[in-house]
Amino acid sequence: MRKGGPLFFIVGFFIFSLFGWVMFPKILFLEKTQPIDFSHVAHGEEAGLSCEDCHYFRADGSYAGIPSIDKCMECHEGGTGLEGKAAQEEEKLLEFAEEGKEIPWLIYSRQPDNVYFSHAAHVKMAEIECNTCHGDMGEREHPPIYKKNRLHPYSKQTMAMETCEACHQERGVLNDCFVCHK
Ligand code: HEC
Ligand code: HEC
Ligand code: HEC
Ligand code: HEC
Ligand code: HEC
Repeated sequence: MRKGGPLFFIVGFFIFSLFGWVMFPKILFLEKTQPIDFSHVAHGEEAGLSCEDCHYFRADGSYAGIPSIDKCMECHEGGTGLEGKAAQEEEKLLEFAEEGKEIPWLIYSRQPDNVYFSHAAHVKMAEIECNTCHGDMGEREHPPIYKKNRLHPYSKQTMAMETCEACHQERGVLNDCFVCHK
């Protein structure tokens, strides 16, 4: 090998690694923030709400997901006398309400249309905790940055097929394609 060869190799290795670890994820994912800096902590501990007050099953068993703005306005109608940054965020909420619009929340876990998923099967029947699939979302003071994959319309945070399959395998649930793809 030529003198200096190993040095070139080492420098090259670091340049490419830097690209792989630092640059590539930035190129692949478009970072977005939620329309309102919503705090789960403020609504759990301070407003005294439980998860089911906002994220509940409808009478037909389907999952309501993120609550409509009507739910928020049960408490925020006319403002609640917050100060500083919190007041600014509440002001955004009041503007959506005034315009009669729903808040365009970004859904981290949104799956492609050809994937079938039901909360009833997982939460009610299998009794799996929210955290198992969603991490600490319910305990956060600020929503995480949403990382939209530029190659398809879903976020980096959504559950990958292999994660679904790994748990199914562990718990003896069928993993035939038609179970999840309808
Ligand atoms: C006051 C209503 C309210 C309460 C109470 C509440 N949430 Fe939320 N939740 C929201 C709103 C609004 C969002 C969208 C903003 C965000 O992502 O933080 C959200 C988002 C989420 C998401 C993200 C779903 C996704 O993939 O985008 C999860 C998971 C979640 N909440 C779990 C919980 C858990 C667990 C609790 C109880 C510890 C809880 N929430 C209590 C209103 C609420
Ligand atoms: C049960 C009453 C109640 C409901 C329902 C409710 N809030 Fe709140 N909200 C509060 C209280 C109380 C605070 C102040 C908490 C504190 O002292 O930090 C607050 C604070 C806020 C703030 C200020 C910043 C922050 O997050 O601390 C925003 C923004 C906000 N709420 C948005 C929402 C949205 C959006 C919804 C609907 C998804 C909602 N709230 C539903 C009671 C409620
Ligand atoms: C087995 C994994 C799993 C568990 C357990 C689970 N979720 Fe989810 N959740 C998902 C998946 C996957 C999606 C996306 C579904 C889709 O896009 O069709 C989702 C979507 C959501 C959404 C957004 C729904 C929407 O479309 O607006 C909320 C809010 C949410 N989950 C809250 C919760 C809460 C609260 C719990 C606990 C009571 C919970 N989840 C338990 C996997 C799970
Ligand atoms: C932590 C474990 C776990 C994870 C993660 C998980 N599942 Fe499941 N899933 C189960 C269990 C347990 C059952 C059986 C529930 C029952 O019927 O008692 C099940 C059942 C199902 C069923 C059949 C029941 C029905 O609703 O028709 C589908 C479809 C399904 N899962 C889809 C998914 C998809 C899609 C994902 C990933 C986005 C996923 N699951 C992630 C544990 C998991
Ligand atoms: C336990 C649920 C589950 C089972 C079983 C399953 N899939 Fe998936 N599949 C998913 C989820 C969730 C996604 C979307 C997330 C992702 O791309 O990883 C997906 C995505 C895909 C995609 C699209 C990939 C892309 O990048 O858009 C293809 C193709 C696919 N699955 C084929 C299959 C085939 C073929 C089988 C049977 C051998 C199968 N799947 C079984 C849950 C499942």
